[in-house]
Amino acid sequence: MKTIMQTINPESFRDEELEEACRILQKGGLVAFPTETVYGLGGDAMYSEASAKIYAAKGRPSDNPLIVHIADMDALEDIAQSVPEAAVKLADHFWPGPLTMIFPKKEAVPKSTTGGLETVAVRMPSHPVARALIRESGVYIAAPSANTSGRPSPTKAEHVKEDLDGRIDMILDGGAVGIGLESTIVDLSTGVPTILRPGYITGEMLEDVLGEVQVDPAILSQKMNPNIVAKAPGMKYRHYAPKGQMTIIEGDTGKVVDEINRLVKEKTDEGCSVAVIATEETKDAYACANVRSVGSRATEGSIAAGLYDILREMDHIGAEYIYAESFEKDTLGKAIMNRMLKAAAYHVIKV
Ligand code: TXA
Ligand code: MG
Repeated sequence: MKTIMQTINPESFRDEELEEACRILQKGGLVAFPTETVYGLGGDAMYSEASAKIYAAKGRPSDNPLIVHIADMDALEDIAQSVPEAAVKLADHFWPGPLTMIFPKKEAVPKSTTGGLETVAVRMPSHPVARALIRESGVYIAAPSANTSGRPSPTKAEHVKEDLDGRIDMILDGGAVGIGLESTIVDLSTGVPTILRPGYITGEMLEDVLGEVQVDPAILSQKMNPNIVAKAPGMKYRHYAPKGQMTIIEGDTGKVVDEINRLVKEKTDEGCSVAVIATEETKDAYACANVRSVGSRATEGSIAAGLYDILREMDHIGAEYIYAESFEKDTLGKAIMNRMLKAAAYHVIKV
């Protein structure tokens, strides 16, 4: 299949520019499109053959459900069996935006979209191209991140092309996304609202609206613990991972730099290809041929936005060993470190 590449300027585009993308979606085809979090791989959520194509294109395990993207609250009536008060409050505050909520599903939502579950994940994205695509196509768009299963999520159209060229009908290139980490997922289908995946909308922001919010124990655990089953099926898989072996070094900055330099020398002397994931503040402190800055410690948002691009670059460099600095696990840092720990398969050295 030839994948059509179409550029679209999110700041100024005419809805007619989306005609072909809409036609593809209406016919059950697949279109990758930008959202404010990461690029999504879209297909008709209510048509089981379209979801089946999504799983095939990504090489995704079929028990890992998709998120249904909507453009207005009325859509919930077609998708969710019931919408609790808490969800209405969260929607008021955070939709459109980087928040996904889990509801009991309506019959009409095919089980192939929900990975066999009786619940459905729903998000109303704020990205103008995503919104226009849903509205103009009249399709509720099932969209996982538009990467090959297991690789870092795409934050640029080039990332999508790298993984899915020839496997999907179209890629809408709206430039680099703003946030760079996938949406926060909250389960509202059981008693206390529970965070299943941390993201840009933090636990504190949710608590300000709802009062008590829990965090799925699977997120807090420092290891892939076989005894703790993640409630979001996708969170149990190794993820976001570069091909090389990644290690995170934690501690005071000076000590971290010394330890990374020691490890770099050790592996370089063994003849291995080595890379360092540093920050604007520290990048000049390393004696390594491949040092990449992920962003500035002064703005956590820049680190979130840069992370997946850097993880992909580790593969382009061909790094066999990757040493990364670590970040505070507060506010957005929680989501950043959640992704980094998975990418590193929980290899952490404390200094
Ligand atoms: O920001 C995002 O959420 C992006 C953009 C494209 O919207 N999408 C995204 O989708 O990250 P994906 O498929 O890569 O991640 C969806 C996550 C998976 O971990 C999946 O297991 C979980 O959502 N999920 C989906 N439906 C669920 C359900 N009914 N119950 C629990 N978890 C669910
Ligand atoms: Mg994903």
